[in-house]
Amino acid sequence: MSANTQENAADLDGFISLDISEEFKHAVQVSHLAFHVAKEMDLEEEFCSELSVAGILHDIGKLRLVDHIYGDGAQDPFVIEELKYMRMHSTLAYEELLGKGYPDNVLKSILYHHENYDGSGYPANLRGDRIPLGARILRICDVYSALRSDRPYRKAMDMDTAMRLMIDEVRYFDMKVFLAFQRVVHKCEWRDFKG
Ligand SMILES: [Fe+2]
Repeated sequence: MSANTQENAADLDGFISLDISEEFKHAVQVSHLAFHVAKEMDLEEEFCSELSVAGILHDIGKLRLVDHIYGDGAQDPFVIEELKYMRMHSTLAYEELLGKGYPDNVLKSILYHHENYDGSGYPANLRGDRIPLGARILRICDVYSALRSDRPYRKAMDMDTAMRLMIDEVRYFDMKVFLAFQRVVHKCEWRDFKG
C-alpha cells in the first residue's frame, strides 16, 4: 500500500477518538514497545525508562482537541479542518507537560513524535537525525500500535500486514530504529501484540 492510498500508515496514529479506553490501551502499547525497542538498541536504562513515560503521555494533547472539537461550543466536525487540529496535538501535549518536572528527553520525544525521517512530518518538519532519537522510536511504535488496533473504519491488521505497510513507507522512519523494532516485534512474546 502506498502513501497515496486512502490509508496512510503514518497518519493512522493521528486519529482522534472519543474512546478514552482505546486511547489509553494505545498509550500502554506504545510505552511497552518503545521501552523494548530502546533496550534492543542498547540505550541507557534511564533513556529506556524515560521513553516508556513518553509513550504513556505522547497523545495526551488529544484530550484537549477532543474537548475543542466535540465539547461545549464545538464546531461541526464535518466543517472544521480536523486534520489541522489533529496536527496540534503533539504541541499541545508538550505545552501541557512543560514546567511539570519531566526530563527534556520525555518532552522532546513527545513534541516531535510525528516528525518523519524524510522531513514530511510535523510540527517542525525536522529531517533525519535532527529528530530526537526518542521521537524517532515513538514514531515507529505509534504507527505499529495504530495499525494493529481496530478503527471505526477498519479492523486491526495482523502483524505481517502491518509490517508490510510500514516497509512500504519506510522513508518516514529511521532505518536503524526500524531494524531494532523489527527484531523486537518478531520475538515470540510480541507476535500476538494487538489492540
Ligand atoms: Fe500522536
